[in-house]
Amino acid sequence: MNQQLWDSVDEYFASSLIPADPVLAGAAERARAAGLPHIAVSPSQGRLLQLLARIRGARRILEIGTLGGYSAIWLARALPAGGSMLSLEVEPRHAEVARANLADAGLADRVEVRLGPAAESLAALVAAQAEPFDFVFIDADKPSNPVYVEFALHLTRPGGVIVIDNVVRQGEVADPSSEDASVRGVQRAVEMIAAEPRLTATAQQTVGEKGYDGFILAVVGD
Ligand code: SAH
Ligand code: DHB
Ligand code: MG
Repeated sequence: MNQQLWDSVDEYFASSLIPADPVLAGAAERARAAGLPHIAVSPSQGRLLQLLARIRGARRILEIGTLGGYSAIWLARALPAGGSMLSLEVEPRHAEVARANLADAGLADRVEVRLGPAAESLAALVAAQAEPFDFVFIDADKPSNPVYVEFALHLTRPGGVIVIDNVVRQGEVADPSSEDASVRGVQRAVEMIAAEPRLTATAQQTVGEKGYDGFILAVVGD
């Protein structure tokens, strides 16, 4: 492990490829000032999410786990005119910060932050036969990943993309005897994805300013 090296390489690529952005910097600063945990995606990861949504041509995006709206800003900026995004968050204080950040980013008309336990909001979307999403970013409480994968499958149209953050858990994901609830949540989600013929998936380990981690990328078939 060499966190300093990962930081400097992340900084090299981000400063080269991602223009300085006062809106995103302001969103990160507001989240910090409000005392929110420092666990948002990095700039390079935000850009990756944005590119994936853009490559997909996503018109409807669902995010599970808003925090201060940092990843939501990256994703919502991938939306075409007329597109929309829904982001689910259980903590009122996080939702409040996110709404302020999205308003400052000029995205309040395109992004709704819905307050409440994500599993309840997702069940309500299924019950209401909501129009399916093209892109789902799962990034909330990790023990619930299996629940979120199941809902994401129900709520995503064929060709849709599902991304799950933080799946490496310091490498503990490969330990079948782990009793950590977050690790178990990832492992159960992986088993479900593997057993689901409609999903084609891979996982990538990552290093960078967020340490050693990784994400799952899945595409929904017919
Ligand atoms: N996607 C954000 C980071 C999300 S951090 C970004 O990269 O900018 C995880 C968020 O999930 C936290 O804000 C936490 O409050 C929220 N969360 C945790 N449990 C939840 C639940 N059951 N339902 C909805 N949100 C939840
Ligand atoms: C944590 C959560 C995240 O979504 C993340 O990207 C990093 C860390 C956490 O709960 O520690
Ligand atoms: Mg995360």
